[in-house]
Amino acid sequence: MKKTLPFLLLLLLIHPLHADEGMWIPLLLGKNEAAMQKAGMKITAKDIYDINNACLKDAVILFNQGCTGEYVSDEGLFLTNHHCGYYYIVSNSTVEHNYLTNGFWAMNREQEIPCKGLTATRLVYMEDVTDEVLQDVCDQQPEADRQRLIDMHIATLCAEKVNGTHYKAVIKPFYYGNQYFLYVNEVFTDVRLVGAPPSNIGKFGGDTDNWMWPRHTGDFSMFRVYADKDNKPAPYSKDNVPYKPLKHLTISLKGVNEGDFTFVFGYPGTTQRYVTSDAVDLAANVENPIRIALRDIRLKHYNEAMNSSPALRLKYASRVASIANGWKKWQGESIGIRRVDGVAQKKAFEADFRQWANNRPDYKEVLPQLHQAYERLKPVEVEWTWFNEAVMASDLMNAYYKLYRMVQNGELKSGKLATEATVDALFQKTLKFEASETDKAIFVETMLCMWRNGFAPYLDKKQHSEAEVTRFLNDIYDNAWMNKPEKLKKLVLKCFDKTPEDAFKLLRKDHAMDLFAVAYGYAYTTAKREQYTSSKQEIDKLMRTYVKGMMEMMPDSNFFPDANLTLRVTYGHVAGFRPKDGVWYQPYSTLEGIMQKENPDIYDYVVEPKLKQLYEAKDYGRYANAKGELPVGFIATNHTTGGNSGSPVLNAEGQLIGINFDRCWEGTMSDLLFDPDYCRNISLDIRYCLFIIDKFAGAGHLVNEMTIVK
Ligand code: ARG
Ligand code: ASP
Repeated sequence: MKKTLPFLLLLLLIHPLHADEGMWIPLLLGKNEAAMQKAGMKITAKDIYDINNACLKDAVILFNQGCTGEYVSDEGLFLTNHHCGYYYIVSNSTVEHNYLTNGFWAMNREQEIPCKGLTATRLVYMEDVTDEVLQDVCDQQPEADRQRLIDMHIATLCAEKVNGTHYKAVIKPFYYGNQYFLYVNEVFTDVRLVGAPPSNIGKFGGDTDNWMWPRHTGDFSMFRVYADKDNKPAPYSKDNVPYKPLKHLTISLKGVNEGDFTFVFGYPGTTQRYVTSDAVDLAANVENPIRIALRDIRLKHYNEAMNSSPALRLKYASRVASIANGWKKWQGESIGIRRVDGVAQKKAFEADFRQWANNRPDYKEVLPQLHQAYERLKPVEVEWTWFNEAVMASDLMNAYYKLYRMVQNGELKSGKLATEATVDALFQKTLKFEASETDKAIFVETMLCMWRNGFAPYLDKKQHSEAEVTRFLNDIYDNAWMNKPEKLKKLVLKCFDKTPEDAFKLLRKDHAMDLFAVAYGYAYTTAKREQYTSSKQEIDKLMRTYVKGMMEMMPDSNFFPDANLTLRVTYGHVAGFRPKDGVWYQPYSTLEGIMQKENPDIYDYVVEPKLKQLYEAKDYGRYANAKGELPVGFIATNHTTGGNSGSPVLNAEGQLIGINFDRCWEGTMSDLLFDPDYCRNISLDIRYCLFIIDKFAGAGHLVNEMTIVK
């Protein structure tokens, strides 16, 4: 291979991963050990992951399917984020017993609240099973056959590996299917809420501060895992006892300083590190702007409602948190990609890849083919985004979607007894629709926005001027039969045992159903679905080749596999950064900042009176830093993503110093492109967390369960 100077320079610039970039596989951490120790780590890779001995991995759990938690006592007590436990805090709250607003602290084991459906998963061990999974598989096979064979191998292997145990196995692809790992897990299902600070602490700064630094959110909550008498997972029972983890984390009150080594151990969900310039362009410049604009509308109406009544605040809290979270992240991501010229960076790398691939037939065509596949994907992806973010924005259309799917899937069969009682249950349990001014405003405005942008031609047929379309949408909402359930129920009763076509003919008497069906039918034609699925499959297949090629092109680089909700280690150091010209961000925040942000008139910045008293008395106890301040948060260069929330942040000795909960806005493009100048993870300082439990909540009995060193 003839390397020209610009070629080498570019490789250095673009590819070999940046020092702090990467989400590493615990089993293979030996490869990173030297670099981690050089960066300051005092423990070994085996202390983190060891198949034969209790190690740090036994203290880390997957919280449901989307967050991380860590054991901090030998009685199954674990920490995660407030926003991870949010659903359980909200769903156990009422306006009278409002744990979201006032916090919740179990003062004894009896008071702990069982959380139905919540799981805590421990990784027992992992194993490279690439050879078994890819046995007899080759690239010449049609993709569908190839996948079938792979799925068959996976099913057999998973069954074999956990045969005769209470474990559960999953096998996941890495590097777009160039490698496969098996995960054998132990899944606990009796998990109880133990503690959560009031919203003013656990969500201090709210959506205003979300994704931002400086940050002062006390984003933690506590749960406890219960097991049967043999310490094994069991469904909830009052006879269950606190689980004894193989390992729980030691907590250090020493804190961290700029430059200190830290690592994060958790379950990052999804990254797309290796995608092409087309993918980056589509996400940052096409899809994100659509989603942001449509969510602007939804958020405006929900926020108005939430500010108008405590009941509505509780009602919408969870969904608004999630809508706002994506909305803000995508803004940061698109700006970040533009700032670092992400599309151009990718294109420059692709030019080099093409040069390298020129005389390699296996790789020569991969980039042009990827480009074509994205060209096919783009129009349908864009339409689908509109449908999802506009049509599916209202509760009304969501209810029709559910009914539509039931009809389409032939679920309205009299095997299930077409009686009024079954239909009543359907309306109460599945469709659960409640009309509201807020929902109506969202429906009208998002649909109108879609129409204005030419993505709702079906509305055009009916009405022409904007005023007419608006009136039409208002009428649709007001007259929807979902609003007149008695009428709709009668109609649904008639649909039992009808073919979907006949059922739809009946249901479309309801104009709102008709509108939904037309909108759905438009975005979801067979041809469009085919175009969508086949181009996605094609992209996956080509990415498998492209990534394999990259690895051959740069055999000396240690490539990390994209996040896929499997356990990973990421390491870096505590560091401030320069978000924009003339501004330097210090790497840690303190209680002082909470008082500076205080504003009794703004919901997000109300400070709890008790916290204020503690501040005024400077009553920080052993949780203060050397300067006598109470630390609240810190930032570091660890490469994290969604799913890492709640992950333990550990120091060089492997002791818990913080709980990961966010990233800095200027660096949210790290799922696509990591830039060490801008990408920072945000952690809650463990001292603030303990201070809140101990001094603020008076739940010192929980702190006493923990192992704490100075
Ligand atoms: N941005 C963080 C994450 O992606 C926290 C989200 C919850 N907080 C909020 N204000 N919505 O999960
Ligand atoms: N806040 C995210 C989470 O919930 C973490 C992140 O995206 O950095 O996992």
